[in-house]
Amino acid sequence: MLKPEIEDGEQTLADPQFRADVLAGLERRPRAIPARWFYDRRGSELFEDITALREYYPTRTETAILERICPEVADIAGRGRAVVEFGSGSSVKTPVLLRCTAPSAYVPIDISGDFLRESSRVLSAAFPDLLVLPFEADFMRPLTLPHTIADTPKLGFFPGSTIGNMIPLMAVDLLRTMRASLGEGAMLLVGMDRIKDEVTLVAAYDDEDGVTAAFNLNLLERINRELDGTIPVDAFAHEARWNDDRARIEMHLVATRDVAFTVDGRPFAIAAGESIHTENSHKYGSRDARILLRSGGWTPIHEWTDPDGLFALYLAEAQAERPAP
Ligand code: AVJ
Repeated sequence: MLKPEIEDGEQTLADPQFRADVLAGLERRPRAIPARWFYDRRGSELFEDITALREYYPTRTETAILERICPEVADIAGRGRAVVEFGSGSSVKTPVLLRCTAPSAYVPIDISGDFLRESSRVLSAAFPDLLVLPFEADFMRPLTLPHTIADTPKLGFFPGSTIGNMIPLMAVDLLRTMRASLGEGAMLLVGMDRIKDEVTLVAAYDDEDGVTAAFNLNLLERINRELDGTIPVDAFAHEARWNDDRARIEMHLVATRDVAFTVDGRPFAIAAGESIHTENSHKYGSRDARILLRSGGWTPIHEWTDPDGLFALYLAEAQAERPAP
């Protein structure tokens, strides 16, 4: 997830969508800013640090599952598909999947062109015979894949429990969009974090070293940097809460005192105890995950988990359009 969008010291030109999301999000009640804005250069580095934390089990658990099951995935899906990865392709998981599925092509899709080119270069060096076709796009929108792989069956790859960032409504939309983009006969390998005891869950998002706190607070620093903000960052505290009703971890930035500041010249006041909601991380039990996949047009055909049942990978196939009930 390392997204080197800008070099250190380079003047930042604010993304108009970032400005719009922040201003609207600070005005709304409850206040909320989309989690995608965590990932500037500093945020991406902090996320990399999170993945190595003792408390943050998802990355190492999913990687271990993938290493173990990959030959089986290849047996079921068949080798030679075109692997289409939604989001970052810089993770250690990608080479694991590519090694065992022997794809005819690899299509990493990412919204950040710079990042895509860099990670594609690294992958091409590691897999010199592989056709790498980086695709700069917002994967939340329907996309037309390169015509060179039009007749090749696809294997979508969506690891990291990134789907958990979305509320179920949006997750289903995304799954349906993926199905439309990948086409007839496609398969999808998707990682989802599981529901587990609250202590383990909260610790994963509120580590002892304060790395996740720094990751959350960096959003305010980014607003100050890129949107000419005057937010007193020291007046906010990181909080990770388990919302049991909605089966999700929520990250918040809670004001520890009354604060007043401006962003892009607009004034805001936040009272002590009020929060800015910055992230949702939904967790799915086995049946939850399978309902979600089916709702999104995918039939689950296999499920794998680690010995402790912390995390799960699902292989699903695209449901055929049904001409009759
Ligand atoms: C990248 C969305 C999967 O929700 O676990 C990690 C992001 N936030 N620690 C997650 C995250 C705080 C992560 N995802």
